[in-house]
Amino acid sequence: MPTPETAVPDTSTYPGADYYEVTMRPGTWQFHRDLGPADVWGYWAKNPHDRHEPIGMGYLGPTISVIKDQPTVVKYRNKLPTTHLFQFVIDKIRSGDPQLAPIAPPPYESEPPFPENVNVWNVVHQHGGFTPPQSDGMPLHSFSPDGVHAESYTTLEPDRVERNEAICAYTNHERSSMLWYHDHGMGMTSVNVYAGLAGLYLIRDPADERLGLPQGEFEVPLILQDRTFHPDGKLAYTMTQQEGEDTPVVNGKAYPFLAVEPRRYRLRILNASNERFWRLRIDPPRDVVLQPNLPFWLIGTDGGFRAPLQMLNFLIGPAERYDLIVDFSGMPMGSKFTLTNYHAPVHYPGVPGQGPEISEVMQFQVTKPLSGADRTTPPKQLKLPVVAPNEPEPDIHRREWVVYQHKLFSTMTFNAVPFMEPSQDFIKAGEKEIWEYVNPNHDAHPMHVHLVNFQVLNRQPIDAAAYQADYEKWIDGGRKASDKPVLANYFTGPPIPPDPDEALSYKDTFKSYPETVTRIVTDPWSPPMEPIAGIANSGTELPATYVHHCHLLEHEDDDLMRPFTIVDPDA
Ligand code: C2O
Repeated sequence: MPTPETAVPDTSTYPGADYYEVTMRPGTWQFHRDLGPADVWGYWAKNPHDRHEPIGMGYLGPTISVIKDQPTVVKYRNKLPTTHLFQFVIDKIRSGDPQLAPIAPPPYESEPPFPENVNVWNVVHQHGGFTPPQSDGMPLHSFSPDGVHAESYTTLEPDRVERNEAICAYTNHERSSMLWYHDHGMGMTSVNVYAGLAGLYLIRDPADERLGLPQGEFEVPLILQDRTFHPDGKLAYTMTQQEGEDTPVVNGKAYPFLAVEPRRYRLRILNASNERFWRLRIDPPRDVVLQPNLPFWLIGTDGGFRAPLQMLNFLIGPAERYDLIVDFSGMPMGSKFTLTNYHAPVHYPGVPGQGPEISEVMQFQVTKPLSGADRTTPPKQLKLPVVAPNEPEPDIHRREWVVYQHKLFSTMTFNAVPFMEPSQDFIKAGEKEIWEYVNPNHDAHPMHVHLVNFQVLNRQPIDAAAYQADYEKWIDGGRKASDKPVLANYFTGPPIPPDPDEALSYKDTFKSYPETVTRIVTDPWSPPMEPIAGIANSGTELPATYVHHCHLLEHEDDDLMRPFTIVDPDA
């Protein structure tokens, strides 16, 4: 199993900041030794020491690793072809085929933000970033390889970019954590990420050194995805057709194995799948009958460390990150442990047995002799920063987001409002809010909010069928404020506390379970105002508009995403 290489910054272009040039390019990649090479897209970072040897693998992108609070400036260059790797999907969108239309069909249809002859557009979003809006990489910031811009395209340092480029700057004021970056092209995120446009972004805090965590080769990122292949090894995009066999891909390899020493490892798992949830556990070698599953110690989530928690399995939704310690100490040489997806089908919870499922994901093979004593801290004794509960004040503002599935189309929206409608939600800077996600569907949705971290407050079951019917009636009746269904009338039970693996954790993505309202309490809404790395206009100006969305990529494209706006409370 490969591990994406770390990009090397240029430290002279912007004094005090790390500077990278990252290019999106087509390439080829072999997902498995038994498969032929596949056409893929990936990110490549310029190597400041050797311009002929850019850093990347072809698929995915190099890891950007930064020191907390030391800003980063990145120039993104779009060198992708002008015909899409999944052009047949784009053609279907253009033909208005509602079965396979990442851009919403009528009546939610919004014109793609690009003219007919443009088929590829991209923008890079730093997921989990505390980033001013113009550097956040939102859908309408997209730009094409031939230099066509979407309506909100913007760049820092306009004198230093070509039309197929954009410069973004990141504060790196997040806590020590694993963020990631990925494509966020308007209506095309699903096919762009599927082609390979995703990478890791690590925030490192030098203060973590004293924690005694496994480091270097004993800290392993695992980027989990599922892919479907044609017999010749080329990528098939069948997300919405559900044909072909789903194959687990970790760091770009199908069914990989990792040779490990009998010691503790830190696994940093990102679910970068388009739609798949995974319920992961580690199965012991098959020949060892009495050995239990190897436990995971959860030490962090999306937004940083949390109190250690021992788990035998856990459910990870798209875009979530789990920071884990797994202990192979004392395991006999040659023993093989299997990371298994234990009954999570592609749509979660779905109907087990229906739809493509994956069981074995990868193997850890204890085949390397111990290279030295394991001096890392046993997970139970780790002195990790403890996350204080984010208590809502009694007068906190509440905002309701209803996952609304249109009667006639697969299209989903928040509150039956298409993404392209201007922002209707104005949040006072500096205040926290409770956001209530009402999910009357049968599937779970991973919901992601840009800019802030939050905590899951609780969940409450609802009479989904009755709520959905009344909500539909309200929409059809012209949305009279007085007729709006009141959520409290549909509860079928008391609030349920968050799951142990999400409680007292910093999250940027959470699971909105079916037939349930999930409540989150955000951190105060305070975008970074100061300019970054001394670059003009790189800080935030209020009002500032961001987005939140479902991270099932096909849903975010079609159309389960809304903008919201942070405003000056005194203006
Ligand atoms: Cu990971 Cu708006 O996305």
